[in-house]
Formats: sequence, structure tokens, C-alpha cells
Amino acid sequence: MAPTTAPVKEDEFNDVVEKLAKFKPLGFTLKRGIKIAPHKSAEDRLPPSTKARYARHNIELPDGYPVIPAADTIPKFADEAYKIRDADYAYIERAKNADPEKKALFGAAKEVKDLTKHIGTEIVGLQLADLNDKQKDELALLVAERVVVFFRDQDLSPLKQLELGDYWGQVEVHPQAARLVDGISVIWQDYFRDLGLPISFKNSQLGNSTWHTDLVHEHQPAGITHLHNDAIPSVGGDTLWASGYAAYDKLSPALQKFLDGKTAIYRSAHPYLDRENPFAGPKFIEREHPLVRTHPATGWKSLFVNRPMTVRIVGLLPAESDLILNYLYDIYEKNLDIQVRFNWQPTKEGLGTSAIWDNRISQHNAVWDHEGKEARHGTRVTSLAEVPYFDPNSKSQREALGLDLN
Ligand SMILES: [Fe+2]
Repeated sequence: MAPTTAPVKEDEFNDVVEKLAKFKPLGFTLKRGIKIAPHKSAEDRLPPSTKARYARHNIELPDGYPVIPAADTIPKFADEAYKIRDADYAYIERAKNADPEKKALFGAAKEVKDLTKHIGTEIVGLQLADLNDKQKDELALLVAERVVVFFRDQDLSPLKQLELGDYWGQVEVHPQAARLVDGISVIWQDYFRDLGLPISFKNSQLGNSTWHTDLVHEHQPAGITHLHNDAIPSVGGDTLWASGYAAYDKLSPALQKFLDGKTAIYRSAHPYLDRENPFAGPKFIEREHPLVRTHPATGWKSLFVNRPMTVRIVGLLPAESDLILNYLYDIYEKNLDIQVRFNWQPTKEGLGTSAIWDNRISQHNAVWDHEGKEARHGTRVTSLAEVPYFDPNSKSQREALGLDLN
């Protein structure tokens, strides 16, 4: 008996899939059912301090700020997204050229203060825009050692920020993220809430407001990230960072030995469609990297995991992997002595504050306690680094510094 419906031919099926994908960019829409809000003009919505910063540096505002890549330029299928930066490219580790004593950087600063024992240093009295190459190398080394470095009271053009990022590595251009121009992402949780991110007091751990590491799914994941906040709530809006070196040093020698040389699968924050099965729901870009990685400048081992984007440890059963990964996330998230919490408030009104951190050796978490009642807005530039590796001869930070291992 003849079938009642004719089988769908492959090219017809592909045609339907292509049409489906043209509807709109997926962003995080697929997962959260977000609807794009009507675009207000940049003039209407931009915080005054951001507007003033852009005006001081002759930045012309694009219409419909921030710029969202056009729907037809955003990859819809995971196989297209994989092709972005899929091959090796040269990376220069600037920190390797640095004077270990950092005389040029520290000599030009009014004050250099460590904010906690294990993570976080603030440099006072220095404009990032004025750094020469020697100082930029030394800053890269300081970031590699201290994980995150802060600069208040900055008068920094976003284009200068981009130039700095370009010095430290290939600047990441995200296929989906909101931006000022390519390479300068706009970090503006209030705007994402307008788009439908359901962040609220009761549901405050969404988007950037949860422990995570940026861009771990890249073939050469993020190294230095520089976030410059130009609109800062009068109270709150802090960010926390935790050290991956110290997280590794928290583990027993037996567990360290077990994890050394293991790899894990890491996924993208943004979803795509599976071309073979587009109705199956979101598909993420996934790549394999070492679970313990060696930092090329310090040579220290760091625990490279984060709760939202580590999928599984390669070679273990799912239950084993989940158990161990959850323990490792807890190490990062629960040990307050390996974290720093930073309030972005400048000391001079109208100026901004920069945080420069190394994603290879850290996690961070932006606290959404201001509930969007005061503006929090910033520009972010991320420099991609090396293909992650584990050097079996590398040491932990505490080992290398001769500190007590207990
Ligand atoms: Fe982040």
C-alpha cells in the first residue's frame, strides 16, 4: 500500500531548516523564551556618565545602541559557529617579556596595594591610557600573578581600551554579543533585562551574576579581560573573583595527581541549532581543554572549571564526573580566602574604574544587588590567549613560592 504522506526529500528538509534559522538570532532566546524589546534610541537609555565618557572621547553613538549583530550575520547552526577561530593562531605572551620586579609599572604608580593575600591588587595614581609597552608587559605579568588588577579614576576611551586588549592578544569578536564596535562588548545587565533576561531579586543569579569564566569554549580561550565600568551604582554592583591557582592548591595531593593531565569538555554560553536535528533544542559549541592548565607566564597550575560551562570530565562515567566537578566548583565558590570582592566606586566623580583579569586562572561573579535601580554599564575587551596546555613539570603556586602546602 502506498504511504499516505510522501517522504520529505533531503533538500526540502534543508530548505525548511534554513528558513527556520532565518527567523531571528537565537542568542539566549531559545532557552529563556526572550522577546526582543522595541529599540529605544541610544540617547534615551544611556547612563549620563557613559554619555559623558563617550562625548569626551569623541565616540559617536550608533543608532539603537548597543549594536546587535544583524540577524543574517549571526551563525544559527553549531557547525557554522564552530568555524569561528577554529584554527591555531599565533599568541604572544606579553607577560614573559616583563621585568619580574615591574619597576616601570610600580615606579609610575602612587600606590600598589594587595586587596587580599591570594588575589587582587589595586594600582593607584596611574592612567591605563598612558601605559607604555614595558608597563603593559609588566601589568600582564602582575595580572598573571595576582589574577585581577584594579584601576580606579580612569579617563579611558573605549578605543584605547580596544588598543590595550589588542596588545595582549587577539581581541575576541563575539558573533552575538551587544557591542559598541566589533571587539568592544557592552556589559549592561539592565539592557539584557529589557531584552527579557528574567533577573530579579528572587532570581538574581543569571547572566554574569553567577560564578563563571568567560569564553571557555574557544579553541584559544580568553586570557586577559578588561572591563571598564563607566556607570556604577552608588551602593552595590560589586564583582567577585576567585583564584584558580589557589583553588588547585586547596586540593589534596592525591586529588591533584588524579586531575593532572585530565581533560574536560567546555561549552559556549550561547546556543545554536543542530543542523541534523534542528528541533532538538539548543546545541552549544563544545571544546576539550585540560582540566588543570599551566599558565605560560607564571608556570603555575590552575584549576580550569566553572559550573555553567564545564560539561564533563573526559574518561569518567557521568556520575563520577558530576560528583567531582561539583566538588571542584564548590572549592572555587565557597572558599572566601581565595576570593576578592571589589566595589567599583571611583574616588572622583565622572571617572570610571577598570578591572583587568586573567580568565585562564579565575572565575568571577557580578553581584546584582542594585536591582537595576541605578545604572551599571561598562565596556569589555577580551584578549584571547594560547591553546590551553598542561605541563606535567609545572608546579602549583604555593609549591613554586615555597609556601606551606597544608
Ligand atoms: Fe564574565
